[in-house]
Amino acid sequence: MYSTASGSSRRAKRGKLRLMCVDSICNLEQNHQENPPNKYEFADIKDSCRIEYNGESIEFSIKQLINIKYLGQGCFGSVILTQLEHRPDVIFACKRMTLEILENNDYSSQCDLRAMRDVGNDRHPHIVNFYAALIDLINGELVICMEALETSMDKFYSTLHSRIQPSSNLLDLFIRRLAKHIVLALDYLKSKNLIHRDVKPQNMLVARPVIFKLCDFGICETYNDSLSLVLHRSMNYFSPERFRGVYSYGIPSDMWALGMNLLEISQGYHPLASQPILSYLSHMNNGWQPDIPLTLNQHTRDLLSILLRHNVNERPRHYSDILSMPSMISVEENPSDDEINLVNCVLDALPSETSE
Ligand SMILES: Nc1ncnc2c1ncn2[C@@H]1O[C@H](COP(=O)(O)OP(=O)(O)O)[C@@H](O)[C@H]1O
Ligand SMILES: [Mg+2]
Repeated sequence: MYSTASGSSRRAKRGKLRLMCVDSICNLEQNHQENPPNKYEFADIKDSCRIEYNGESIEFSIKQLINIKYLGQGCFGSVILTQLEHRPDVIFACKRMTLEILENNDYSSQCDLRAMRDVGNDRHPHIVNFYAALIDLINGELVICMEALETSMDKFYSTLHSRIQPSSNLLDLFIRRLAKHIVLALDYLKSKNLIHRDVKPQNMLVARPVIFKLCDFGICETYNDSLSLVLHRSMNYFSPERFRGVYSYGIPSDMWALGMNLLEISQGYHPLASQPILSYLSHMNNGWQPDIPLTLNQHTRDLLSILLRHNVNERPRHYSDILSMPSMISVEENPSDDEINLVNCVLDALPSETSE
């Protein structure tokens, strides 16, 4: 069951929130003179909004959002499946992030919202759609309303391997379609001058029939930005050059992360997950090479191996280079019945979600 914040922490949030409300909604001109403008990333966000939802214009307030079930938890926010009051047909995944300034959450929520607005409004087929951002004055939270997908890839792949165990051919096709969808999403971000920087199974979403989308833009950066926020990032997907600190974060590092993800998802576990961080680091510094499952098709193995080239200069330079590889060209536009059945079976077999 989804559980709410404890009474005392909610009271504490309310105390800070009052100040936030004044800052974010009223007296903007006066506050702009007293504080730098970048303090007001949320200034235009209110506790109600009007959106376009399936071709209909809908107005609602934060009070009309009814929690249905818990969808997931990340470093910066919890995500809840939500329904609009008296409108069971209007469903969102609402990501709630505290407005309290804690470590880097301020940076993250601003970054998430900015990137979401930038990319989530375009209805790209492989980027989670954005609908609205609201301020929850009672709980002191920024609420991002987005389209709801079924689950994330971390939960999906563990059920895929533990309960379903597809044939090698079907698993191979699944991995190639996933790779194609995520590469299309990353390429689209690149066209917007953005790098995701946190490509991991928890940030890949799955929907029926066979659709994969990228979410979580909390540490997304503009391409030329030199800032390198590593806090809260999973080192499991850090490329070797990131550990050496010799290159600023760029597309090749996201490519490495994608390769590591595809390897993990295809075999059902991260290849170095059991290693302590120092030994992981030493593997990365000593030219670790992946053992790519022999059950995968040769073209798929080629894809994983080129993404996981230790030398950053040997990885593909552009996403278009990946999309023109045989493993990607061979992915048909529409998924086969076998792929559709596989995704349906896994989604139907997922354990029910409980809040953490
Ligand atoms: N649109 C969505 N539909 C379904 N589940 C989602 C959606 N967005 C996020 N989730 C779930 O919530 C988790 C946390 O969301 P995320 O945006 O990654 O937060 P964080 O920035 O804190 O990591 C995800 O790993 C996923 O399981
Ligand atoms: Mg996340």
